[in-house]
Amino acid sequence: MFHLVALEVRRSFRRFRGIASICIPALLFWASTAPVAAQQDTVPLRPIGNIFDPLSVPARAISDIGIFASLICLGIFIVVAGLLVFTVIKFRRKVGDDDAEPPQIYGSTQIELAWTVLPVLITVVLVLVTARTIAEIQNRKIPESALTIRVIGHQWWWEAHYPQYGFVTANEIHIPLSTKDRPVITELQLESADVIHSFWVPQLNGKTDVIPNRTNRMWLEPEQTGVYLGNCAEYCGTQHANMLLRVVVHDPAEFEKWVQSQQAPAMQVASAQKGRELFASLNCVNCHRIDGSIAEGVFGPDLTHLMTRRTIGAGVAANTPENLHQWVRDPQVLKVGCLMPNLQLLDNEVDEIVGYLQTLH
Ligand code: CUA
Repeated sequence: MFHLVALEVRRSFRRFRGIASICIPALLFWASTAPVAAQQDTVPLRPIGNIFDPLSVPARAISDIGIFASLICLGIFIVVAGLLVFTVIKFRRKVGDDDAEPPQIYGSTQIELAWTVLPVLITVVLVLVTARTIAEIQNRKIPESALTIRVIGHQWWWEAHYPQYGFVTANEIHIPLSTKDRPVITELQLESADVIHSFWVPQLNGKTDVIPNRTNRMWLEPEQTGVYLGNCAEYCGTQHANMLLRVVVHDPAEFEKWVQSQQAPAMQVASAQKGRELFASLNCVNCHRIDGSIAEGVFGPDLTHLMTRRTIGAGVAANTPENLHQWVRDPQVLKVGCLMPNLQLLDNEVDEIVGYLQTLH
């Protein structure tokens, strides 16, 4: 019987290896290509939102406690599974066994005490260390000098206000790097315009729910530059899965440069005049805002510096001329169910609008 088990294990292993040889490279390939390439960035794209590779102070605290809890669970698993395997092997049915029931033993105060007290102690330890980490993160004093960003969740995109700098952007949040000599904390004030969302950038912090009529807070203290991928982590409707976000961490000088580029009013390129006038005459202006124009809508993303963003549709596609064309022609193709309707524009109108949008650097 034993060799049968061994044979089955070996067979399963071979089967697993077969599946793994296909799945693991496929997964790695997906992980490396899934996020849209960010060629314009001077900072590296961190391709996987990996909870085991925290690169921000609060994320590190959460990861440490996660590893600690996992190690305790691993210890329990090894003890329980070890005892089980030992018992199954040692007391298996042997040739020559009679059919009599083994002696039935009820009640052992020592054993019952042990398996009651030990789990209680383990649970108390887990509760205490968890409470300490939660308190450390939540009670962190946010200094006056912190960068504040008001992040508003919408179905299905993120609006980001920088009140200290007086501009608004969407879906790609830029923040400065924090170093030992120059610690910088970024505080996010999380609000919702409609339903409950959840803000999650795994390498920077845990999840925080984004709830209507309430402001939740979260702070970030990134230790390495990079483009960090995140997403909405609370089901919020049809396009929940495409409510993606990016946090771009710059060194302070680069961050200042980015801020200046965002503070500037929208470019007025002469060659895009026709497109600009067409945009102003259409329903676009009811939902989108372009600083320095009559477009004052707040229902959709601010487009003042659209071309500084790497993606469109909250990360659904790379910000390329082809995708922009597709989006303006019919947003429902790239993002089914999104709240921007097909405006039924003619081909030449789409060209004019896209030509104009592409001047918004
Ligand atoms: Cu927003 Cu899910």
